[in-house]
Amino acid sequence: MEGAAVKPGGRLLVLGGGYSGLRFGRAAAQRGFEVLLTSRQRRPQDAALRWLVFDSEANDSGGETAGLEGITHVLMAAAPNGQGDDPMLPQLAAMLQRQPLQWVGYLSTTGVYGCTGGAWVDETTPPRPRPGRSQWRLEAERAWQATGLPVQVFRLPAIYGPHRCPFEGLRQGTSKLVHKPGQVFSRVHVDDIVGSLLHCIALPEKRRPAVLNVCDDCPCPSSETLGFAAHLLGLPLPDAVRFAEIETSLSPMARSFWGENRRPSNHLLCQQLGYSLRYPSYREGFRASLAEEEGSRAAGETGAQSGTPGSAT
Ligand SMILES: NC(=O)c1ccc[n+]([C@@H]2O[C@H](COP(=O)([O-])OP(=O)(O)OC[C@H]3O[C@@H](n4cnc5c(N)ncnc54)[C@H](OP(=O)(O)O)[C@@H]3O)[C@@H](O)[C@H]2O)c1
Repeated sequence: MEGAAVKPGGRLLVLGGGYSGLRFGRAAAQRGFEVLLTSRQRRPQDAALRWLVFDSEANDSGGETAGLEGITHVLMAAAPNGQGDDPMLPQLAAMLQRQPLQWVGYLSTTGVYGCTGGAWVDETTPPRPRPGRSQWRLEAERAWQATGLPVQVFRLPAIYGPHRCPFEGLRQGTSKLVHKPGQVFSRVHVDDIVGSLLHCIALPEKRRPAVLNVCDDCPCPSSETLGFAAHLLGLPLPDAVRFAEIETSLSPMARSFWGENRRPSNHLLCQQLGYSLRYPSYREGFRASLAEEEGSRAAGETGAQSGTPGSAT
């Protein structure tokens, strides 16, 4: 992640050091931030990163985050919980209000726009989330915005990157090549999330939009991305199945995912704010992810050390 001349010396708290949070924490540490990350489990400390235990279900008044001071930047990277509440805010709001905060990034989803039948959406499009997870997410965005903290909401489509690509499913023979005419998915490489966050931190506060879509240039069907992943691996594609044939076997989350069709625009990020995507499409992103996975395998790292396993649409 070149560019992003962030002023060193900040103290960053990443709430939820998972796939994106950890990648962001590492990049920020390289730029001179002191970085603290939370996890529900105790994690081994690292020279550049300090791990704190925080579990919103633990009822322990913020766990190891309770006594923090001097936090200048926060990234919130945990989803609303199964009851529809933000998992962090109720316990951490008072502590955050005491900090000299310059920036709070909230990672949200483009799911808040709802289904547009494949039409483009931008930050001016009124959210029409479906009931359930997307509605809770919109409420969580609003709860964070209502704190009066300097919150910027980042709306993300499917996140992919090293260890979150369709490669493992193709190798194991578990991938499905699903045909649903007209359906597209949008995605973003994790390093473009990191790059966009750093880009926004480096902007003067008045230029930071309250809400920003962070996605690549290439919404497209999942059959296209699976085909490219198979080509990179030199593996055959599974036989195509019609969506109607598999719909009833899908989990509720997968069904809701396939039930929404939209194209989020990155015009504000890339044209107006001048961010240059490192991976404008899955083609560059999958190639780089595969190279990184192979590099970390050669170095003896597991997916958990370098990211969390998963798949991208
Ligand atoms: N994955 C996608 O494709 C996608 C797409 C759009 C938006 N998003 C959203 O973007 C954000 C980042 O996504 P990601 O995939 O990078 O996240 P992730 O890898 O799932 O990491 C989530 C982090 O939140 C922590 N967390 C979750 N529930 C918690 C709780 N109750 N109390 C304390 N900590 C809790 C987890 O702690 P542990 O370390 O203990 O597990 C983990 O560190 C999330 O809000 C996600 O919903 C994701």
